[in-house]
Amino acid sequence: MVGSNILTLALLAPAALSSAVHPYRRQSGLDGFIQSESSAALQGILNNIGANGSAVPGAAAGVVVASPSKSNPDYFYTWTRDAALTLKVLIDQFLAGNNSLESLIQQYITAQAKLQTISNPSGDLASGAGLGEPKFNTNISAFTGSWGRPQRDGPALRATALVAYGKHLLSSGKQSVVKANIWPLLQNDLNYVAQYWNQTGFDLWEEVQGSSFFTIAAQHRALAEGSAFAQSLSQSCEGCDSQAPQLLCFLQDFWNGTAVISNLADDGRSGLDVNSILSSIQIFDPSASCDDITFQPCSARALSNHKAVVDSFRSIYAVNNGKEAGSAVAIGRYPEDTYQGGNPWYLATLAAAEQLYDALHQWKKQGSLTITQTSLPFFQDLDSTARVGNYSSSSATYASLTGAVKTYADGFVSVVQQYTPSNGSLAEQFARDNGIPVSAGDLTWSYAAFLSAADRRAGGVPASWGASGAKSVPSQCQGGSATGSYSTPSVGSW
Ligand SMILES: *[C@@H]1O[C@H](CO)[C@@H](O)[C@H](O)[C@H]1NC(C)=O
Ligand SMILES: *[C@@H]1O[C@H](CO)[C@@H](O)[C@H](O)[C@H]1NC(C)=O
Ligand SMILES: *[C@@H]1O[C@H](CO)[C@@H](O)[C@H](O)[C@H]1NC(C)=O
Ligand SMILES: *[C@@H]1O[C@H](CO)[C@@H](O)[C@H](O)[C@H]1NC(C)=O
Ligand SMILES: *[C@@H]1O[C@H](CO)[C@@H](O)[C@H](O)[C@H]1NC(C)=O
Ligand SMILES: *[C@@H]1O[C@H](CO)[C@@H](O)[C@H](O)[C@H]1NC(C)=O
Ligand SMILES: *[C@@H]1O[C@H](CO)[C@@H](O)[C@H](O)[C@H]1NC(C)=O
Repeated sequence: MVGSNILTLALLAPAALSSAVHPYRRQSGLDGFIQSESSAALQGILNNIGANGSAVPGAAAGVVVASPSKSNPDYFYTWTRDAALTLKVLIDQFLAGNNSLESLIQQYITAQAKLQTISNPSGDLASGAGLGEPKFNTNISAFTGSWGRPQRDGPALRATALVAYGKHLLSSGKQSVVKANIWPLLQNDLNYVAQYWNQTGFDLWEEVQGSSFFTIAAQHRALAEGSAFAQSLSQSCEGCDSQAPQLLCFLQDFWNGTAVISNLADDGRSGLDVNSILSSIQIFDPSASCDDITFQPCSARALSNHKAVVDSFRSIYAVNNGKEAGSAVAIGRYPEDTYQGGNPWYLATLAAAEQLYDALHQWKKQGSLTITQTSLPFFQDLDSTARVGNYSSSSATYASLTGAVKTYADGFVSVVQQYTPSNGSLAEQFARDNGIPVSAGDLTWSYAAFLSAADRRAGGVPASWGASGAKSVPSQCQGGSATGSYSTPSVGSW
């Protein structure tokens, strides 16, 4: 979440580090943990949303606060990215049957409509540039301190959340509500992406200025589904149609043959970053094949990258000592990280599990699993007898490989279980030496990451975003920009 703008205070933090005894939530098996932690995670999210969230007094209605923590670090703000990712999880829970979440979803949209109009240090709505502002005060006013801005993933992630709820309204026959309350905001976000995608910005960790794989992947998805959604409303998004293929073209540049180089920037890093695994789950399409071009979770590229990223954390954290290739470990953001001490993150470890649950869904759906030269090292870590081939779901090899992947995925959740306090609270990080929670407490994104990983494990998947129809790559990549127009949204009654 937060990077170089905040001083690294971890060195001061944990007096707790010396305490050997810490009550963890491991009394039950993994299934029991997931059940109890799922309630804790949903409640943890609700506590952090205004106006009535118990942990965030003063936050406006529908405003998602990143964490109640006001110092060391101060996360008492609303980030467009964190809020959109969290709402997507709540919308999926709503679509799966929890009707009581709907008014909160509507309050979020109303709050976003106001936020879109707030002039801020990134710009204003007239030019669209203000939509790239990463964070706001929780009373819906601009944050004017210095920061890593703009961050261009926010509008794309918000567009994906808006489409998810908008599709539900359309299927309930509420086209006029969608046109009034959703399309104006969505159109602004889509136009922003189509206009600005080919300019640099800060990555999701707010540290690197350049081009971020996560941002481009999320933007491609948003334009693809935004275009289809526009059509279903008898509207159009010309910028979506003209720019989406070029975003997909650019996305290919981040692949180096073994792994995703998460930032194209002069940052002196290896490029291995959970950025890429978060991208794979962001662009997961349950109807897609194991497509390398869109880096689907079951694609050879995404699996090879999963191994590279996971292995980069194996030897650097004491909590991972003795865990050899093929066994799950605690995952951080990127191996060179020093923020708050440079620790594993709950949401990163959960993302490593979620990608694999997504992949398991895709193999099951297509009835086969293919190992290529690219994905072979990933599979050989789990089963040294694995060979390149195509295994039908009726084969014994398929059963043993998918069983091994499931065990591996569960292992990452077990790591989270091991370091979750007995009251179920999820902070941002857990200490690399002994797993004690560190940095911001009750991080909204940690809870959202838990819920989505638990849903995928249980077989719940989000709607398709049309990945199968959005994978043709132009023969030559070109930069570009579509002229955007922006209008002041106002959300009326639902
Ligand atoms: C907060 O709670 C009050 C009292 O239950 C309710 O009237 C109000 O609508 C709630 N506000 C939000 C934003 O949910
Ligand atoms: C549904 O959401 C409400 C909050 O609106 C929550 O209290 C409840 O536990 C959720 N139900 C399930 C089954 O998750
Ligand atoms: C909104 O919050 C900011 C930051 O806490 C504060 O400076 C500002 O005065 C608040 N605005 C209003 C209208 O309360
Ligand atoms: C891709 O990048 C990773 C991480 O920096 C590196 O370890 C690997 O050797 C690279 N692979 C190729 C084929 O260049
Ligand atoms: C794998 O085999 C299945 C039939 O078992 C077939 O439908 C699928 O196209 C094959 N996939 C590859 C990548 O060869
Ligand atoms: C839950 O436990 C953690 C770790 O012991 C602690 O920091 C946190 O304040 C507790 N939360 C609540 C709501 O008691
Ligand atoms: C713009 O797109 C071109 C073509 O894909 C690419 O080479 C270039 O790096 C991009 N620049 C930015 C800042 O996105």
